[in-house]
Amino acid sequence: MGNNKVSIIGAGNVGSAIANALTLLNIGRHIVLFGIDMPKQEGEAWDIQDCVPLLSEMEITPSCDYEDLKDSDVIVVTVGVRQKEDESRLHLLGRNAGIIKSVMKDIDKAAHNAVVIIVSNPVDILTRIAIENTTRDENKIFGSGTLLDTSRLRYQLGKLLNVNKRNVHVHVVGEHGDSEFIVWSNAYVSSIRLDEYPLSSVLTLDEIKKKTSDEVRNRAYNIISRKGYTNFGIAVAVSELVNAVLRDEKKIYNVSVRANKDYGIGEDAVLSLPCVIGKNGVEKKLLLSLNDEEQNLLKMSAKRLNEVYLGIDFSK
Ligand SMILES: NC(=O)c1ccc[n+]([C@@H]2O[C@H](COP(=O)([O-])OP(=O)(O)OC[C@H]3O[C@@H](n4cnc5c(N)ncnc54)[C@H](O)[C@@H]3O)[C@@H](O)[C@H]2O)c1
Repeated sequence: MGNNKVSIIGAGNVGSAIANALTLLNIGRHIVLFGIDMPKQEGEAWDIQDCVPLLSEMEITPSCDYEDLKDSDVIVVTVGVRQKEDESRLHLLGRNAGIIKSVMKDIDKAAHNAVVIIVSNPVDILTRIAIENTTRDENKIFGSGTLLDTSRLRYQLGKLLNVNKRNVHVHVVGEHGDSEFIVWSNAYVSSIRLDEYPLSSVLTLDEIKKKTSDEVRNRAYNIISRKGYTNFGIAVAVSELVNAVLRDEKKIYNVSVRANKDYGIGEDAVLSLPCVIGKNGVEKKLLLSLNDEEQNLLKMSAKRLNEVYLGIDFSK
C-alpha cells in the first residue's frame, strides 16, 4: 500500500514498543516516532535503528513536528497518561480526552487520508471522541479494542486445554475494560465446539471458563502491579492491525467501532466487535450471533460506555 509509512503518536512504553514490534515483524518501511520530548523520541528511535542491519530495511524517524506525518498510511495514537495500579481505564478519561481532541486536529491537518488506530485508554471512549472530532471518514478510525484481551483469552484457554493457542477461537467483546465479556456460545477449538472438546485437565469446563475469565479480566492489573505498565502484548496486537491495513489483509479482529445497527444497542456507543480490517480501515462490521445472556451483557457494556461518554466535561 502507498508509502508503507506508519506514524506513532506518543513515544512512551507503548509507542516505542509498537515501533520496535513493527521493525522486528517487518511491517511497513518507514516509521515516524512522534512525541513532545525529542530526546526521548531520539533515544527510542536510535535504539531500534541499531537492529535494522540484522533485520529487514526500515527507516525510523524521531519527530516532534506534525509535518513529518505527511503521507502516512497509518497513524497509531498512544499519547496520554497511563493506568496506575488500582486505577480503572475509565479513570484516565478526564486526563486523556482533551489530548485526543487536539491530537486529532493536528493529525487531520498533517495526514488526512491515513487510517487512524487509537490505543490510548479508555480506548473505546477515546475512539468515540476521535471519531467525533475528525474530518476523515468514520471507517478510517478505530480503536485496538479487545484484540489484546482476546489474545490473552486464547493464551489462557490454550494452556488449560493443552492445545496450540492459535487453534483456540473465542472472542472477548464489548468495552476494553471492566464490562467486557467472553462470547462462550461461539467458542471453538479448531472446528470443534468448546463444550464438545475432550478436556485433558482435572478442571471441569465451567471451572476452566471461570478461571480464564478471571485471568483475562485481571491480566492488565496483574502486569501493571508487577512492571508498572503493559507494552509488549499491545505492541504485537497493534502491529497485526497495522499489517492488515498496509497489506489490505481483510482480516477479522475485534476492534472499537460504533456497533452494527443489527445488534440492537443503538449506534452511539463505540465498543469492540468483530470487523474486517483492510486498506480502508474498517471495511465491514460483522454480526456475531449472541445468546440472550450475551446480548444483555453487550447492552450493559454499551450503556455503561454511553453514560461515561455523556458525563465527560469537555470544558476541561
Ligand atoms: N488499548 C490497550 O490495549 C492499551 C494497552 C496498554 C496501554 N494502553 C494505553 O496507552 C497509553 C500510553 O501508555 P504508555 O505506557 O505508553 O504511557 P507513557 O506515559 O509511557 O507514554 C505516553 C506518551 O505520550 C506522550 N504524550 C503526552 N501528551 C502528548 C501529546 N499531546 N502529543 C504527543 N505525545 C504526548 C508522553 O510524553 C509520553 O511519552 C495509555 O493511555 C495506556 O493506558 C492501551
